[in-house]
Amino acid sequence: MRILVLGAAAGGGFPQWNCNCTACRRSRSGDPAAPARSQAGFAVSRDGARWHLVNASPDLREQIARTPQLHSQDGLRGSPIRSVVLTGGDIDVIAGLLNLRERQPLTIHATASVHAILDANPVFDVLARDVVMRPELRLDEPFLLEQGLSATLFAVPGKVPLYMESGEEMQPIVVDGTTVGLLLEDGASRAFIIPGCAAMTPDLAERLRGADMVFFDGTLWHDDEMIEAGLGKKTGRRMGHMSLAGPEGTLAAFDSLEVKNKILIHMNNSNPVLLADSKERAAAEAAGWIVPEDGLEVVP
Ligand code: MLT
Ligand code: MN
Ligand code: ZN
Repeated sequence: MRILVLGAAAGGGFPQWNCNCTACRRSRSGDPAAPARSQAGFAVSRDGARWHLVNASPDLREQIARTPQLHSQDGLRGSPIRSVVLTGGDIDVIAGLLNLRERQPLTIHATASVHAILDANPVFDVLARDVVMRPELRLDEPFLLEQGLSATLFAVPGKVPLYMESGEEMQPIVVDGTTVGLLLEDGASRAFIIPGCAAMTPDLAERLRGADMVFFDGTLWHDDEMIEAGLGKKTGRRMGHMSLAGPEGTLAAFDSLEVKNKILIHMNNSNPVLLADSKERAAAEAAGWIVPEDGLEVVP
């Protein structure tokens, strides 16, 4: 299988539209050590002709435009994009679905709770239900994306989408069908895509052990970096994301998992790992992580 990183940044992207922090400023000014990144999204294919999106960020239109593999090729109307798999209900996961209107036959693969979010928002009915299928997927049951390429959704610790939160206080971290990880298998390799994850549980660690490739939540370097930088009031934990550094961080959690290729995704504009000349980038790379730019293509 082939996996394309359409976008590597967290919700808001890098630079973020209303952010004037040093990193966003460097990115806006064209600093080669701070290349812009769009909001997280992926395209997966086994045969190179049929493609499946993983998540549909608000940047999807531009992501498709700059990715020749995803361009319309045959006939007057058509698309190599056959389906979309959703790993949650956040804006940066679902809002880009609206770019896929125009009566193109398509399948949206998601769990019942993510479909319930789409169903509750009539704006998504612009994806005409007579051509856009919305099968409900059960956790831990593999389904075929195309011949020889299977996908499995599984629950990871997460919280309710930001716009569905009930108040200012800490939202409970839950393991249900809303925040999920994706396992892709083609007979040759096992690859995981997990853009959001609030904690490494023993179950999750065992699932990931020995995988060929894992794309993992790289939202923040350390839990209170947004507070320290004066960018916001929330910790990573409060946002439902585990952080990279520290004894309970992602780098430490993966230390003994023997994952062959580790790639950070969903990086927030406050995360210094985005900057090629930061000590945090050097530390992540020393721990074996790839910090991708948009457009990276890998074969797990
Ligand atoms: C997140 O990953 O925490 C969300 O994408 C936040 C947001 O929707 O802005
Ligand atoms: Mn997000
Ligand atoms: Zn910024």
